[in-house]
Amino acid sequence: MVSLRFCFCFFLFCASNVILIPNKSLAKTCPPRQHKALFVFGDSLFDVGNNNYINTTDQANFAPYGEKFFKYPSGRFTNGRVIPDFIAEFAKLPLIQPYLFPGNRDYIDGINFASGGAGALVETNQGLVIDLKTQLSYFKRVIKVLRQERGDAETKSLVAGAVYLISIGSNDYLGPLSQNSSIISSYSPEKYVDMVIGNLTTVIKEMHNQGGRTFGFVNLGPLGCTPLVKALLNGSEGLCREEVSSIVNLHNTALLVELQKLEKQLKGFKYSVLNFYDVGFDVISHPSKYGFKEASEACCGSGPYRGYYNCGGKGYELCKNATEYVFFDAVHPTEGAYEIFSQFIWNGNHTITGPYNLKALFQL
Ligand SMILES: *[C@@H]1O[C@H](CO)[C@@H](O)[C@H](O)[C@H]1NC(C)=O
Ligand SMILES: *[C@@H]1O[C@H](CO)[C@@H](O)[C@H](O)[C@H]1NC(C)=O
Ligand SMILES: *[C@@H]1O[C@H](CO)[C@@H](O)[C@H](O)[C@H]1NC(C)=O
Ligand SMILES: *[C@@H]1O[C@H](CO)[C@@H](O)[C@H](O)[C@H]1NC(C)=O
Ligand SMILES: *[C@@H]1O[C@H](CO)[C@@H](O)[C@H](O)[C@H]1NC(C)=O
Ligand SMILES: *[C@@H]1O[C@H](CO)[C@@H](O)[C@H](O)[C@H]1NC(C)=O
Repeated sequence: MVSLRFCFCFFLFCASNVILIPNKSLAKTCPPRQHKALFVFGDSLFDVGNNNYINTTDQANFAPYGEKFFKYPSGRFTNGRVIPDFIAEFAKLPLIQPYLFPGNRDYIDGINFASGGAGALVETNQGLVIDLKTQLSYFKRVIKVLRQERGDAETKSLVAGAVYLISIGSNDYLGPLSQNSSIISSYSPEKYVDMVIGNLTTVIKEMHNQGGRTFGFVNLGPLGCTPLVKALLNGSEGLCREEVSSIVNLHNTALLVELQKLEKQLKGFKYSVLNFYDVGFDVISHPSKYGFKEASEACCGSGPYRGYYNCGGKGYELCKNATEYVFFDAVHPTEGAYEIFSQFIWNGNHTITGPYNLKALFQL
């Protein structure tokens, strides 16, 4: 008890000196950080409110989003917490803040750059999102600020020790599939997948070049089984739309091949991939196994399967109890489903999360 108090006071002393009187020699006398930082990149699966601060219609900062955990619409595309919130909790970190939150300058625990609607391709929802390349440029700015505040050596070890969590790709396929599938067919599905993976690879390589070593990915979930896709493609038969699942599988296979290549090419590169497709498919096919009652229809939206994406907008319907649902809106899982996926990311076994799970990566 005594030593705990002592540590806490010492930490406060250090922290307040760093903030109030920026003094590099004092900052250097602080004990080394005991935990790894968490940097988050990607799309709405991981966005914790960045889109609140850009001019876009792709937002979730209105009711009934966010009612469960935060009790207000925080900008997360679900009723409560999203995956990075759970991962931060498991890693004993505070909630990781959105980069665009005004005045945010504390990066010691990491920061979140993810933007709902973003893709690996610059063209994906262009003008409405912070695309992955822009997220990378923000990360470089953060490194600059860290260098100024904490010096080169501490920044280098923070960046090298951090875990980089990435969810990207869904929107590169969902956009074209729901609006103009001729974009994909004009490239051929294989070439389109190569382009998406190629752009993701460029970003990973640059993150590694900046000093990042440890990466956590989720592959693409079963997009063809979302209420959105089922409603758009007018699926009346079956649980999922096969034509969508086939391109998702192409992407997921290509992602694994690429990551194995990167592991050989990039010094110190370590990674984890959640097989989000298989886990998501299992949750959707056997909801009761995971404590859900409804996996076909969304809690919030309208039209068939409540698959029209208008949760919180004009004429939407809302279920009575979101806890019973896998999907909160037409395409985004509920907090309860996110918690299950997060547990698999954190300590799933090799059949689901590999070659490492995130818990192992945090302990490296
Ligand atoms: C926000 O975007 C809308 C639609 O693209 C545009 O009409 C409006 O001028 C933009 N507002 C600002 C402040 O940039
Ligand atoms: C759809 O994409 C194709 C190929 O890129 C393009 O030629 C066509 O104009 C697009 N159609 C619409 C409605 O955007
Ligand atoms: C990245 O995507 C663009 C389209 O946004 C494409 O022209 C380019 O070839 C892609 N790059 C790689 C390395 O695949
Ligand atoms: C959608 O399905 C309904 C009934 O299942 C059918 O009447 C309608 O024509 C279909 N629409 C399209 C665009 O396929
Ligand atoms: C909502 O559903 C969950 C799970 O079925 C149940 O435990 C809870 O009591 C329900 N809440 C309400 C208010 O009905
Ligand atoms: C791995 O985890 C899954 C899901 O929890 C479980 O069904 C499976 O039996 C586990 N496999 C091993 C080898 O432990």
